[in-house]
Amino acid sequence: MIVINFLDEQAKKIMLGNDKGNYTVPTVGLYPYQWNWDSAFAALGFATFDINRAWIELETLFSSQWSNGMVPHIIFHQSIAGYFPGPDVWDTNQVPQTSGISQPPVAASFARLIFDKDKEFGLDRLKELFPKFMASHRWFFEHRNENGMIVVNHPWESGRDNAPEWDEAMQNIDISNVGEYDRNDLSHVDPHMRPQKQDYDRFMAIVYFARACNWNEKTMAKNGPFRVADSGMTFILLRANRDLLEIAKILGEDGSEIERWIKTIERGVEQLWNPKIGAYDAINIRTGTFANSISSASFLCWYGGVENSTLLETFERVIKSSTYSVPSHDPNSEKFEPFRYWRGPVWGVINTMIGMGLKQMGHNKRAEKVRSDTAVLIAKSGFAEYFNPIDASPAGGRDFTWTAAIWLAWASPNASDFQEILGVKNGRD
Ligand code: GLC
Repeated sequence: MIVINFLDEQAKKIMLGNDKGNYTVPTVGLYPYQWNWDSAFAALGFATFDINRAWIELETLFSSQWSNGMVPHIIFHQSIAGYFPGPDVWDTNQVPQTSGISQPPVAASFARLIFDKDKEFGLDRLKELFPKFMASHRWFFEHRNENGMIVVNHPWESGRDNAPEWDEAMQNIDISNVGEYDRNDLSHVDPHMRPQKQDYDRFMAIVYFARACNWNEKTMAKNGPFRVADSGMTFILLRANRDLLEIAKILGEDGSEIERWIKTIERGVEQLWNPKIGAYDAINIRTGTFANSISSASFLCWYGGVENSTLLETFERVIKSSTYSVPSHDPNSEKFEPFRYWRGPVWGVINTMIGMGLKQMGHNKRAEKVRSDTAVLIAKSGFAEYFNPIDASPAGGRDFTWTAAIWLAWASPNASDFQEILGVKNGRD
């Protein structure tokens, strides 16, 4: 218990250390700005000890929402020399400056959880945010929807930057106009834990294309160098819509548009099922081909409220191949790299969503394993950005906001597990 209380205190300290007043940075140095889904996780962490600060985190994020509804993936509140790609590279013409793509929309789901902690306090805050959540989800339907499958225009948009599911679509990207650039990330973190140059060149080629067309969504959808349907995004938006519908009911708002979105994505999900690998997969929209990649994004199906017994078998197999759950990529795949970012390591935020989803669907033992493995990784290796799933070593940045936040909100044995609000089914296993 002493160790647990000590970790709770340490997690709080990390969050407060990364707190810039009305937003938090993911970690000092490597990521010096506000990131979209990091902030939503931070809000969940703040809600365990400062509910007002939790709402402020979400409010700051949505104060940079674009007029078309998009919530950008980075908000450059201040200028930091040397960061690449910084605001001048994105050149999106926003105040404050922002990137030009989005990130997984977890905000509405977490707002619902935060509201539940103190309904009286949260009601006005939730009311203010509701139309902003609607506009953000509508933006996804207008610009990232292919037959109910939610697509990303850039791997960064998925939040899983160099995952193997992008490899095939990335191969065809023309990098002839990319030129030289200085990567800031490599001065903070060991290069074998970060994306490789071949990935980075392509990341930049997509940014340059979008910038050249002035971030025009129609042009990017039609001719952009990268457009891939992502099971992670699809399940997260499906879940966010279910939560938004509950929020609409709480506020007495009309939920019919949200109901239509839910039906559309439920149909889209079926197309992402790849029977060859027994998992939900990514599809390159330009070629119509599956990535044939088993990743932790597939295991977000329970979080999305979708049951699939074959996937449960795949999940068991993947978990058994790794000391700690949940590796971001199947350890049996030749592409698995236990240290390299989204190609193998365990990420606490993905585990949180997988664990919440499993629990909600009644897979209690599996949910508990994901949660206790996450707690052990943090207890052994601290609040790292991600962890080696085989030997638990810490990887990437340290003193990381979202790892601290999910510890406080979910992984710590002292955390509440949102059981009541989520309407958890009686245990089936
Ligand atoms: C990396 C991660 C992304 C995260 C960001 C800030 O780019 O891939 O998911 O939002 O870092 O932590």
